Formats: sequence, structure tokens, C-alpha cells
Amino acid sequence: MAEKVMRALQYEGYGGGATGLKIPFTRIEVFDGEMASLQAARSAQLEVMDEKREAMAMKTKSYQMRAAKAYDKIVQHRTFKEGDLVLRIAIHVKNGTKHVVVSIPSPKKDEVLVIVEAASLNPIDWKIQKGMLRPVMPRKFPYIPVTDVAGEVVEIGSGIKLFKAGDRVVSRLNSVTGGGLAEFAVAPESLTVTRPPEVSAAEGAGLPVAGLTAHQALTKSAGIKLDGSDQPTNILITAASGGVGHYAVQLAKLGNMYITATCGARNIDFVTSLGADEVLDYKTIDGAALRSPSGRKYDFVTHCATGISWSTFEPNLSENGKVIDITPSPSGMLTFALKKLTFSKKQLVPLILTPKGENLEYLVGLVKEGKLMTVVDSKHPLSKAEEAWAKSIDGHATGKIIVELTKTMLEFA
Ligand SMILES: NC(=O)c1ccc[n+]([C@@H]2O[C@H](COP(=O)([O-])OP(=O)(O)OC[C@H]3O[C@@H](n4cnc5c(N)ncnc54)[C@H](OP(=O)(O)O)[C@@H]3O)[C@@H](O)[C@H]2O)c1
Repeated sequence: MAEKVMRALQYEGYGGGATGLKIPFTRIEVFDGEMASLQAARSAQLEVMDEKREAMAMKTKSYQMRAAKAYDKIVQHRTFKEGDLVLRIAIHVKNGTKHVVVSIPSPKKDEVLVIVEAASLNPIDWKIQKGMLRPVMPRKFPYIPVTDVAGEVVEIGSGIKLFKAGDRVVSRLNSVTGGGLAEFAVAPESLTVTRPPEVSAAEGAGLPVAGLTAHQALTKSAGIKLDGSDQPTNILITAASGGVGHYAVQLAKLGNMYITATCGARNIDFVTSLGADEVLDYKTIDGAALRSPSGRKYDFVTHCATGISWSTFEPNLSENGKVIDITPSPSGMLTFALKKLTFSKKQLVPLILTPKGENLEYLVGLVKEGKLMTVVDSKHPLSKAEEAWAKSIDGHATGKIIVELTKTMLEFA
């Protein structure tokens, strides 16, 4: 019997991301008040350098590391305006992914085999590739990344009770084994839920990691009820235009919160349309300081951005204000421990997602009822999934980045 195979995108070792810097010398202008590109932001910090020395330094790894650090420092504090002169450094992105044809996996006892119609990317996917979760993930290479999929069940494991072939579903795949950027994937029954006809594959695929994280931050960590029965309290949501943030704003609105949100200037109208009551451009002074335009102090913060220190949050918190940090850094962990040990009323609480099928079902239900939407940043066919991958690494998505699999299959049919 012929072996059953599928197309997939996989990588074969740690690495990925920006691996080289090129074309250092051209001066360019930044137009329309737009924040300069990642490349320009990195190089702006280095304008003072003599070009010849820079040419030498450019070739060294230490230069690249310094450039990356410089970018991290300035990107949140500098707004580029029309006419600004910056140096251009092109980033050579070599993300290490590769298109392959491999065997279709077989479902274990408690798994279903899904023909994937859409998969959504999360920053954790490329962070795993970079080795940030080493040695836990991936356990072995080659590795097909991505955990969030929607599709149709084609085969079930021997112990499956809830699903049959032909059921449309949304699944969060096993994060250790991944497998989402492929035409077929095996999904645990416990993290697979029915997808009603009103919920498209892309809408469903956006939900697992990003939606569940927003849900967990608001309900389990902050204790907010999403039926609107709570008295309004003040919540700040950082990076409200991103995958997690855009769900968090909508859910917080269902919970009757007064929402202050941060995002880039281009997304202010978008985040307002999701339900935010006031929106700060994170590249302005007030935005970087997280100061509420109406002078509110935050009872909760759902922190989805990176690089914001406790000293920035602290003066903006109410007496018992709590920062739910979904991007915990080593200094954040230290603050968490210190605040706990000193019985501080203001707290920083790190969050790591514990996905639950019942919560995924709840979110899919909200999408069905039109109370929650998945905003799609961009859709990419599997044949161009590496572009989606590079976009996620770039960190400027508005909503969710989707890889559409059905389309790919039709293309190849
Ligand atoms: N702890 C957990 O279990 C868990 C779960 C899920 C996600 N996460 C982490 O949470 C973070 C957010 O995830 P995501 O999926 O929402 O990422 P994402 O979709 O890639 O976020 C991109 C968005 O963030 C905005 N942004 C970036 N820096 C910002 C800042 N300083 N202030 C305001 N907005 C900013 C960007 O706006 P511009 O384009 O305008 O810059 C862009 O719209 C990631 O680091 C992810 O790894 C953790």
C-alpha cells in the first residue's frame, strides 16, 4: 500500500530569525511620521559611528549583537518623523524553515487526526525555534512548528468518544510535538472542540494560545467575570493590537471594564473599535509612561508587550493594583518574588498559559454569537508559510497571522 504523505513546513535545528546585517551605508528618509522599520530603528542608534569603522564592525558578531540591543532600547522611546535621516541596515532573514513532504501522523488512543484548514502563528512558535525553551521544546528535530489549528476530523484514536470523522474542530496541539504547519495534524481530544458553521477556520485557528491566554489573564488571574456582572474597574492592556491583546480588549469589554490600551499610532482607531475606552500610542512620552489620559489608576494590567519595567507600572496602579505579566522576564520574576515576600498590595503576577478545552469551547461560542472576533492580520498559503513566520518574528502583526492550508491544497491539486 502506498505511504500516505503530506506537505509541511519544518526546521531541523535551533536558530532562525535575523542572522546577518547588510547594506549599512545608504541614508534614507522616513516618511509619513511612521515608526521606522526595524532596520532603520536599529541603525538610528548607530548614526554617530564613523562609517568606515562601522563597515569593519558590521562584519563582526559583536556589532550585530550591539545593534540588536540598541534596537531594543530605542524602539519604545523614539518616534521618527518625516525627514529624519537614518542609516539603512537590511536584515538578512534566514529563518531556517524548509518545505518537506513527510508521512501523515497516526492518532494515538486519545487523539484525533485533523485535516488542517487554517493554522495561526504565535510568538512562542519562533521563540521555540530560537531555543528559548531549550531543552524542553522541541525534544527532537526535525520539528514541524505551530500548535493552533482548525480543520476537520478525518480519523480518530481508539479511545475517542466525543468526535467522529467529518466533525469540524478547533484544536490546540501538543506544544512539545507541535505539527500545525502541515496538511494533517494529530490533536489531543482534551484540547479539541467543535467548530460551528458560523466560525470560519481562520477565526477558530486564531483562538487557542492567544484567546486562551487573554481569557486566563482576565478570569483566573484577575478574577473578572465576563458576563458583565462586575462593577467597572480600570484595566490597562498593553500591546492591545496584537494576537493576545486584541482578544483581551474584547473580553474585558464583555466584563464591563473601563479599558485603557496601548498600541502603535496606526492602530489607535482599530483598538478603539474593539472596545477600548482610551488608547495610548506607546511611542509617545505619555504612552511610554502608561499614563491614563483621564488620570485613572489601574486595578489590573494585562501586560502583553515586553520591556516595560515595574517602576513604569507602579505609579499607575491603584492601591491593590495587579500586573498580570504574560511576558515575564528575569527582572519581572524578581519583582514578583519581592512583592510576594514583602506582602506588597501592588503585585506583579507572571502568567504561563494552562490551556483548557472548556475555555476554548467558551471562546468558540463567543465567536459564534458574534461577541468576539478574530482579527486576521494576514493570510498566507502553506507554500509561503515562511513569510508568515518572518512576519511573526518581526512583531508588528495586527491581530492574528494565519496560514491557510485548504488554499494550498487546491493550489497543488
Ligand atoms: N505567558 C504565556 O503563556 C503567553 C501566551 C501567549 C503569548 N505570550 C507572549 O505575549 C506576547 C504577546 O503575544 P502576541 O501574540 O499578542 O504578540 P504579537 O501578536 O506578535 O504582538 C504584536 C503587536 O504588539 C504591538 N506592540 C509591540 N510592542 C508594543 C509596545 N511596547 N506597546 C504596545 N504595543 C506593542 C505591535 O504594535 P506595532 O506593530 O505598532 O509595534 C503589534 O501590533 C509575546 O511575547 C508572546 O510570546 C505569552
